[in-house]
Amino acid sequence: MKVAIPKERRAHEARVAASPETVKKLIVLGLSVIVESGAGGGASIPDDAFAAAGATIVPDAAAALSVADIVLKVQRPLLAGEGGVDELALMKPGAALIALLAPYAAKAEAAAYAGRNIQTFAMELVPRITRAQSMDVLSSQANLAGYKAVLDAAAEFGRALPMMMTAAGTIAPARVLVLGVGVAGLQAIATARRLGAIVSATDVRPATKEQVESLGASFVAVINDEFKHAQTAGGYAKEMSDDYKRQQQALMADTIKKQDIAICTALIPGRPAPVLITEEMVKTMKPGSVIVDLAVEQGGNCPLSEAGRVVVKHGVKLVGHLNVPSRIAVDASALYARNLLAFLTPLIDKETKALKIDRNDEIVKATLLTADGQVVHSAVQG
Ligand code: NAI
Repeated sequence: MKVAIPKERRAHEARVAASPETVKKLIVLGLSVIVESGAGGGASIPDDAFAAAGATIVPDAAAALSVADIVLKVQRPLLAGEGGVDELALMKPGAALIALLAPYAAKAEAAAYAGRNIQTFAMELVPRITRAQSMDVLSSQANLAGYKAVLDAAAEFGRALPMMMTAAGTIAPARVLVLGVGVAGLQAIATARRLGAIVSATDVRPATKEQVESLGASFVAVINDEFKHAQTAGGYAKEMSDDYKRQQQALMADTIKKQDIAICTALIPGRPAPVLITEEMVKTMKPGSVIVDLAVEQGGNCPLSEAGRVVVKHGVKLVGHLNVPSRIAVDASALYARNLLAFLTPLIDKETKALKIDRNDEIVKATLLTADGQVVHSAVQG
């Protein structure tokens, strides 16, 4: 079985789906690995490092994709009409593709994968069960995004984060509010604390209160009956009622004006991000304050943030970088590559060294978008 690692071609993507470490392990599984020249460039992995790990380096996407039985990617393949190489057309019918396929946002593409008879697995849909923790790309990437968001905020902020007592006087510590305390939010809290800021955080899931406090931050939230039931069985947040949103906005209005930095990470799977910082609230913030909106690609937790841009509005800097994990591409690639290796390993038959997909397996069922020329996942059907 041949595994291809093509160069990522979508905008704002510097990551790569394999590392020299995972290439060696793929070879131990009995696979041969083909890497497109330059695939690791954005993640500081030269072709030579992949070759030394045992991969064959090929000059272009066609040479990598046309022979592969399994394609490992970060982003979904480019299709005809998107400009550049039609990556899907280059793939061999019957091949398997494992990548971040944006199953909710890019539903129409599933039909194209099925049309080419590509077997596709969406890594975003790996279930959050114990057995799949090592495959959890949302966690590995969100953790790094939460860290990077605080560094991006610190870089845009014209003041220091820690308290400093100097001969010229004392600098007060910055106040950081983290909105949404999932994987990214927890890492943002920890990072802001390490930089010496005074940190508070908010979420709608009750479990987060203890997590926030255990990191040395204070918890701010509307705590009522609805809050007590805001977590779904899958561990995610529900969309809150209009009444809750009103109460939450009143609390945020009071909290936000005392902050220097807001790190927005609140998301609801498959839905637009909740609006937590309104324009009126931005107007009450101190000049020079910074809002980093990690939710910007899902509409943003602040309607003033703009995808892919850093803008100043009402004296507040709004940071809306796209694909934040890619801004820390070396570590993000290393962890993503390990997630893919962990996902692929149980799909390879130990005797035949070929793909053996058990359609009854919980992880396969959760992630398989297309198979046998059909769209098989309910998230992308219809
Ligand atoms: P996410 O990226 O979907 O959302 C980020 C955060 O935003 C969540 O904490 C959510 O509660 C919060 N949020 C949503 N609406 C909000 C609102 N209106 N106001 C304030 N906050 C709001 O979440 P993520 O990071 O994917 O984590 C979701 C859950 O999965 C957590 O319970 C986490 O502990 C759990 N998890 C479980 C894993 C496992 O068991 N293997 C691995 C990783 C995460």
